[in-house]
Amino acid sequence: MKIKFIAISLLLSSFAVSCGGNEKSEHKADDAHSKTEHKAEHKKEEKKEHKEEAKASTSDNGKGIGPITSVELGDIDEALVEKGKEIYKKNCTACHKIGKRVVGPALKGVTERRSPEWIMNMILNPKEMVEKDPTAKALLAEYLAPMADQSLNEEEARAVLEFFRTKN
Ligand code: HEC
Repeated sequence: MKIKFIAISLLLSSFAVSCGGNEKSEHKADDAHSKTEHKAEHKKEEKKEHKEEAKASTSDNGKGIGPITSVELGDIDEALVEKGKEIYKKNCTACHKIGKRVVGPALKGVTERRSPEWIMNMILNPKEMVEKDPTAKALLAEYLAPMADQSLNEEEARAVLEFFRTKN
């Protein structure tokens, strides 16, 4: 009788232990599961943030907004400089001087502070530039008068850019 009792209680206690053990490991598994889920969610959020940052920086890539997306610059082309100088004198000097602020900014060193694409887009598409490009917007806020569209074509704008390259 005594032996039976011991045997049963042993059996019961081992049952209890094994049960407890099982519960624990289930908990652990649950924990691990929720941890990995958490991590995954975290990673997703981080990725999203990164994407948004990237988006913000591509919306201002320094090239401005307009038809010009890429300009290859070589050595200074003197013939193009001359052509650009004539176009500049005719279309731009009502508001600009190279070395002095008038209606618009002094254009000395403009090719150092802006990209070639930005300069050409500012010449070809000034209205949209001062509405949407952060740098041009800031200029309008400072100069108040809007830069006028002189209806140049891309070739003419490229020539003016070449002229500006000699004015640094
Ligand atoms: C009616 C006046 C006016 C005329 C004409 C004009 N501009 Fe402007 N320009 C401005 C003003 C004002 C700004 C500053 C931005 C603004 O307020 O819109 C500016 C800005 C610029 C800038 C940016 C300067 C910087 O510091 O980043 C460039 C480049 C430029 N003009 C080139 C030209 C060229 C090239 C022509 C001729 C084809 C021209 N502009 C004709 C008024 C004018």
